[in-house]
This record gives sequence, structure tokens and C-alpha cells, in this order.
Amino acid sequence: MANILGIGIATLDIVNHVAAWPAEDEEVRALAQDVRRGGNVTNTLVVLSQLGHRCRWAGTLADDSGSAAIRNDLMQYDIDTAHVQQIPGAHAPTSYIALNVHNGSRTIIHYRDLPEYGLDAFHRIDLQALDWLHAEGRNVVAVAEMLKDARRQYPQLPLSVEIEKPREHIEQLCGLADLLIYSRHYALHQLGAEAPITPEAIANTFLRRQQQRAPQAIHVCSWGEHGAYGLAPDSELFHSPAFTPPKVIDTLGAGDTFNAGLIHARLAGQGLTDSLRSACRLAGDKVGRHGFHGLTTQSLQE
Ligand code: ADP
Ligand code: FRU
Repeated sequence: MANILGIGIATLDIVNHVAAWPAEDEEVRALAQDVRRGGNVTNTLVVLSQLGHRCRWAGTLADDSGSAAIRNDLMQYDIDTAHVQQIPGAHAPTSYIALNVHNGSRTIIHYRDLPEYGLDAFHRIDLQALDWLHAEGRNVVAVAEMLKDARRQYPQLPLSVEIEKPREHIEQLCGLADLLIYSRHYALHQLGAEAPITPEAIANTFLRRQQQRAPQAIHVCSWGEHGAYGLAPDSELFHSPAFTPPKVIDTLGAGDTFNAGLIHARLAGQGLTDSLRSACRLAGDKVGRHGFHGLTTQSLQE
């Protein structure tokens, strides 16, 4: 069991199960609806907690009913929220999601007015007992300072960062982490018109470029139904296929689950090839079920 700190977001996800995404100015009736806690880093922590780790969350909440629901959900998974910054007057970040019942794809509209986690709050966290720190690359300037501070205090503490969306100066986080996890959306955005055709060629070009930027780190990019690619210092490109369940029913948070699987595998001392496989296995189990409940070490079994 490891002590893990996650820095990033928690959201309220309003999930409408639909037969298809409507065209503009059209109406569609949802087949079902559920309201869940979401948010990349808290999704990752909920999975890590079920894999047996002790998890703490550093993030912000408002003082509305949505935030109370988020806190309750995290409590059920034993996530320590003692370092949460509560901001009065704002709203829980809300995501309006259409989940396609035929293929599990998710289309999201975000609403956000809650400020991101601040450096002052981070400085109050005692990092001493930590075995891993994972951050979402969101508020880049503050997260960069948090990573530098953690590195200065505990040079051996593994640091991972998720780079999901293109944001101003986000590249500066690459030199500060040991493990960087990119989305395919980010890879495609970075390569633009230069992008090769196949996922493998794109991942190879993109990850080698990132490796030049940050040679100290392991670089990983997940690629939906194509699995995931990874590059370690002085290595060839590693690939794991996806592990597709009998029916793909919910891909919301597949990447967050993949991140949990990767962190879990690295903490267990696995090499990059095995880590990618085990992260894809866990994410494959996730996309075959709604939400994250029940993702345990059994999901990692061959
Ligand atoms: P995100 O959820 O951030 O968009 P991805 O779509 O890359 O992330 O998915 C992360 C991981 O989840 C993939 O590497 C893969 O292992 C698994 N996964 C996602 N979609 C599917 C799918 N349709 N079938 C099987 N596995 C999937
Ligand atoms: C899934 C997710 C959702 C949330 C959104 C935040 O990866 O974390 O739970 O609504 O993304 O960007």
C-alpha cells in the first residue's frame, strides 16, 4: 500500500444516456440519467483507493449541494479531503455529459466558475510520508511551483503529470516530472498538419519529440481502442493493445483509470511494457462498466 497525493479537479457529472448526440437545434430524450462525482484526478484516486492505496486529494470545492455530494462520494472511497480548499459562493464544477448507449462514447459540455487549487494551500501539505504525487496539468504556473517544491523537499518522490489539454505554457511541466501521461487529443494538437496517419506513427513522432524536451522522464500516451504507447529514456517505443470488454458501455474516465493503473504498476516496480499492459487491462475493465465502482486488483488479473 502506498501513500498517494493527487492534485486536480473534482466535478459533478450529469450523465444523460442517449441513443445518439442530437444535431444543433434538435431535441432528444435521454433514456436514463445519473449524477455522479467525476473529475480526472479524483477519478484516478477513487481507483487507486480500491487498488489498496491510501489517497489524499488536494483540490477545491465550493459550498453548494454539488460540492457536498462530491465530498460524500470521496469519503465512501476513503479519500482524505483534509487539504481541500473550500471556496464560498462558487459552484461545483459541472459537466453535462451525453453517454452514447450503443458504443459508450461520451460528449461533454463543461461549466466552471471555481478557482483552481492554490500554492498557499499546497504549502500547508506535509509531503513527508508520500510515495507518489500525481498532478493534473491545469493551472500550469501554480502546478509548476508545486512540482518544484516537492522535488526540492523530496528529490526521490516520484512525480507524475497528466497533460490532457493544450494550455498556455503547459510544456514547461514536462521537465518537472518523472512520468508524463498525454492524451491523444494533445498529441494530435501538437503535431497538427504534420501528424502521420497511423496511431503508432503519430505516438512515435510525438513521444520522441517530448523525450527530447524532457529526456529524464517516461512519456506515455493513451489511445482509446488502440491501447497505449510509451517511451522510456533510451528505449524503443512500447505499445500495449487495449483490452476490449464484451460490450463497451461507458468510456467516461477511461483515461483517469488508465492513469491509476499506470501509477499502481510503477509503484509495484513493474517495467514500462508491463505497466502499460496492466493500465490498459484496468481501463478495459472500466469501459465495460458504468463508473469506477468495483475496479479492484481482480481487474488486473490475466
Ligand atoms: P480518455 O478517456 O482520457 O479519452 P483514452 O480514450 O485514451 O483516454 O482511454 C484510455 C485507455 O482506456 C486506453 O488506453 C484503453 O486501454 C482504454 N479504452 C478506452 N476506450 C476503449 C475502448 N473503446 N475499448 C477498449 N479499451 C478502451
Ligand atoms: C472524465 C472526467 C469527468 C469530468 C471531466 C473533467 O475524464 O474527469 O468525470 O466531467 O472529465 O474534465
